[in-house]
Amino acid sequence: MLHLENLSFSVHNNGDSKQIISDINLDIKRGKLYGITGPNGGGKTTLAKVIMGILTHTAGHIYLDGEDISDKNITERANLGIAYAFQQPPRFKGLTVEDLVKIAQPKLSNLSVRKRMRDVGLCPEDYLDRDMGSGLSGGEMKRIEILQVLARNAKLAIFDEPEAGVDLWTIQRLVDIIVGKYQNNPEAAAVLITHNRNILPICDEIVVIEEGRIKHHGHRDEIWPIIRDDIVCQVQDTCRGEEII
Ligand SMILES: Nc1ncnc2c1ncn2[C@@H]1O[C@H](COP(=O)(O)OP(=O)(O)OP(=O)(O)O)[C@@H](O)[C@H]1O
Ligand SMILES: [Mg+2]
Repeated sequence: MLHLENLSFSVHNNGDSKQIISDINLDIKRGKLYGITGPNGGGKTTLAKVIMGILTHTAGHIYLDGEDISDKNITERANLGIAYAFQQPPRFKGLTVEDLVKIAQPKLSNLSVRKRMRDVGLCPEDYLDRDMGSGLSGGEMKRIEILQVLARNAKLAIFDEPEAGVDLWTIQRLVDIIVGKYQNNPEAAAVLITHNRNILPICDEIVVIEEGRIKHHGHRDEIWPIIRDDIVCQVQDTCRGEEII
């Protein structure tokens, strides 16, 4: 469905050019759940924003169902069925939670909005009228962000660290909803950017991004054992010889 071809993104600061993602080649197929992981600062969020059209790539191409969407803006890509749940959801002063869900999916009935809120662990009575500008906790914002993307029925949904800041009781529920909606769905696919050791092994394919490049990509049975051991090595390296103050 989505084909990334030699995709790169660089930024220019004070005459210096910094390559954030380099030469990414990746195919996202319908019916599958993709787990993207890798060290902090590796380029995962940047890649997601480039796919969504929030950032414009500096080289390469993005194809959606065979059509080159490289020149399409964020709204056009959203209309084509791509949705992105931010790692750090933006706040919208003056809009209520209900407004935001209805903007994401105007066809939803009031009953359906309430059901979907309960699905992500938000009691409609307490949250429907809450202002999105301030006062909501980080975990509440995160759940509303995920709810919006789920409500859109996108053909490609990208969730950027859906577990971050969300309590343990809700994470499993969110993961179950995402898995139920996208895994083996012949119409759609989901990408989960995550560091979570419980989520990665249930993804069909795992992609490891490090220093802006794909370091590993393949079926979970192939990649998970490699990175599980990698994580152990990295922790040992960091700790070795470190003085405890
Ligand atoms: N506009 C910018 N100018 C300079 N550097 C940038 C800019 N945007 C991103 N970067 C850098 O690009 C790198 C990749 O950032 P990105 O947010 O994509 O990482 P990430 O893999 O999502 O990390 P994390 O796991 O912490 O969320 C980081 O080192 C970041 O500081
Ligand atoms: Mg990130």
